[in-house]
Amino acid sequence: MKHREFYDLVSDILRSDEFRQMKSHRHHVKSNTRDHSIKVAFLCYLYHKKFSPNIDRRELVRGALLHDYYLYDWHDRSPGTRRHAIAHPRRALNNALKKYPDLTKTQQDMILHHMFPLTPIPPQTRAGWVLWIYDKVAAISDYRRPTSHIHVHRKDRLEK
Ligand SMILES: [Fe+2]
Ligand SMILES: [Fe+2]
Repeated sequence: MKHREFYDLVSDILRSDEFRQMKSHRHHVKSNTRDHSIKVAFLCYLYHKKFSPNIDRRELVRGALLHDYYLYDWHDRSPGTRRHAIAHPRRALNNALKKYPDLTKTQQDMILHHMFPLTPIPPQTRAGWVLWIYDKVAAISDYRRPTSHIHVHRKDRLEK
């Protein structure tokens, strides 16, 4: 597998029921929160390899994968989805901490501040800014074409 290293860093998250169910949560018109999160995490992984090997790779990639771990479809407009844009980083962090209580302070920063400036506090860490950038890049990409057209989303291969 071309990116076996990436898979090894996140395989437990990818295989979990909670993460799999994100596939049914629509996101950015042509995508879903699962595919979007994989795209963001993979872009962070590539960034790390190319430009910033000093960032902890595992910390960066796992934090990125969990950044939208809010676990609902915000299009449903149910009471729990109100103020989604500004509320979902906190919801994602709470869910992630329940499932992965060993999240580092850097990963918590990544998740909690990825929607800056919609939320007032910017990322406090370099990893947080890396996620911030690639979340935007991935969101634009999501609107432009389905994730399946992008080689990082050979999900079936990643899941084996
Ligand atoms: Fe988000
Ligand atoms: Fe996102």
